[in-house]
Amino acid sequence: MLSFLNEECAPHGTERAKLYRIRTGTFYFVPSTVIFFLIVLVNATILITGGAGFIGSNLCAYFLHLGAKVTCLDNLATGHLHNLSAFIKHPNFTFVEGDIRELQVCQEACAGQTYVLHQAALGSVPRSLQDPITSNEVNVSGFLNMLVAARDAKVKRFVYAASSSTYGDSEVLPKVEDTIGKPLSP
Ligand SMILES: NC(=O)c1ccc[n+]([C@@H]2O[C@H](COP(=O)([O-])OP(=O)(O)OC[C@H]3O[C@@H](n4cnc5c(N)ncnc54)[C@H](O)[C@@H]3O)[C@@H](O)[C@H]2O)c1
Repeated sequence: MLSFLNEECAPHGTERAKLYRIRTGTFYFVPSTVIFFLIVLVNATILITGGAGFIGSNLCAYFLHLGAKVTCLDNLATGHLHNLSAFIKHPNFTFVEGDIRELQVCQEACAGQTYVLHQAALGSVPRSLQDPITSNEVNVSGFLNMLVAARDAKVKRFVYAASSSTYGDSEVLPKVEDTIGKPLSP
């Protein structure tokens, strides 16, 4: 069993894999924190909003691979079902077509979830200038809906993706959250 865990942790040949692969006799020993992490994930339910998008679909695949139960909430505004095709029939995967602008949809999606990874958003600065109301509804009000729904459902962690647009015209590298320039878009 432990050798199976070892296979899951890191590819063969990497330095990290070698660290995990302390072999004694026929058994592999894996650090207890890694085992704990995997057990936690096997029992976890994870809601990924925007799961049909670029980042979200990769997160879905990753956490399914680790054994978690994954629910994707997406209205397919800019995401695509073909991003889910590799795992859409996976027994641990549920796709919910819904809009984060509706609080009830967010509440239903958050019910029973251990973690929320919030990736649903409308990107593109030009879009936000052309149609600021929709961008605000999704990126601000929809985000707030998700925060409230996650809080009420008592999820353990809420992780969201922000945008590098927040750094505005700051030319400082590397970008750090304490250094924010003049905003270039709404
Ligand atoms: N891709 C990048 O390089 C990058 C860089 C920095 C930050 N981000 C941020 O990461 C997040 C995800 O980015 P991405 O590149 O995967 O974008 P994406 O457009 O591929 O995915 C966003 C997903 O959100 C869904 N969505 C949009 N509005 C929705 C709504 N009202 N209800 C439900 N779902 C909705 C879309 O259908 C899409 O599947 C965004 O917040 C983005 O700003 C991305």
